[in-house]
Amino acid sequence: MSDTQMPARKPARPFFSSGPCAKPPGWSPEKLQTAVMGRSHRSGLGKKRLQLCIDLMREMLSLPDTHRIGIVPGSDTGAVEMAMWTMLGARPVTTLAWESFGDGWVTDAVKQLKLDPTVIRADYGQLPDLGAVDWSNDVIFTWNGTTSGVRVPNADWIPADREGLSFADATSAVFAQDIDWAKIDVCTFSWQKVLGGEGGHGVLILGPRAVERLETYTPAWPLPKVFRLMSKGKLAEGVFKGETINTPSMLAVEDAIFALEWAKSLGGGAALRARADANAAALDKLVQERAWLGHLAADPATRSNTSVCLTVEGADADFIKAFAQLLEAEHAAYDIAGYRDAPPGLRIWCGATVDAADIEALGPWVDWAYAQLTVAA
Ligand SMILES: Cc1ncc(COP(=O)(O)O)c(C=O)c1O
Repeated sequence: MSDTQMPARKPARPFFSSGPCAKPPGWSPEKLQTAVMGRSHRSGLGKKRLQLCIDLMREMLSLPDTHRIGIVPGSDTGAVEMAMWTMLGARPVTTLAWESFGDGWVTDAVKQLKLDPTVIRADYGQLPDLGAVDWSNDVIFTWNGTTSGVRVPNADWIPADREGLSFADATSAVFAQDIDWAKIDVCTFSWQKVLGGEGGHGVLILGPRAVERLETYTPAWPLPKVFRLMSKGKLAEGVFKGETINTPSMLAVEDAIFALEWAKSLGGGAALRARADANAAALDKLVQERAWLGHLAADPATRSNTSVCLTVEGADADFIKAFAQLLEAEHAAYDIAGYRDAPPGLRIWCGATVDAADIEALGPWVDWAYAQLTVAA
């Protein structure tokens, strides 16, 4: 077959978006439990389902009892900003940024909270010098930069005896990458990524030092109700038992429970991580076989196994747009254009809900799209 001929076999599930991501294999809306729909989230049943969701997340993340886990409003952004607004200002702040979302937290710290943070940056594809971080500061970073496909390789650069708090936006890392919880004081994510759940809600994980900060420090600025984690001078413990601050989407909660039960049926967190690794390896093979494809993440040790960002030889933004549209029109691959602020390229989600066979099936299709655009040009 020549590259200009359309391949015969399509990925069975052409869902490669980096958020919201592919639903778990076998998912369908009919499979979601609906007994709680139309009921109060504060009913016995509502609280039971929220608690089950929390318990399953703890189990799939192997989260130790030292850390609390709660469901909050506003997707991952809500969880990150809730943490920033409630805990920052007590000591100097360092923000790390190597792509668009990390940059967003810099903007929050500089322009909104006016904290005058130390900002450590790197270009798309690179990681900044993690050794340069002053841990007497509170430190905000993105564990996996979704728009550049660059992740921190591990938590070794975070000292056990740090004075400041570590804040990890790990929305595209949790369930796919191993997190050393002892090194993490605050972690946030949304179900829409590796679990293939819905956006809308964030998940906030707090270690004991973060709780101590909340209980001993009151920020100088006002806090809207959706950010308030304290009640009568103490941590609002209910938030970590399914007593959400305001009304959650129980449909999104049931959807997350479905994904978590799927994860459990596979063998839990290790199985999810293995699936992401296998998907990323299948994609890497495809890249290695093509001279015109490359990885945006320069160092393989920092290369994401979820939001894998690829360079395409000679491609500008228009080329990438046309490339992605060709594949979408044929239902061969959805949503694989890189993020709007990133250098033009492809971004292919390799999280646990994607099947490796579908990544493999992408190979002939990217050849076909590339040939269409280069032969036509
Ligand atoms: C690293 C990172 N942080 C934050 C967000 C924003 O997440 P949400 O839309 O769930 O608030 C995203 C979304 O892709 C992300 O990848």
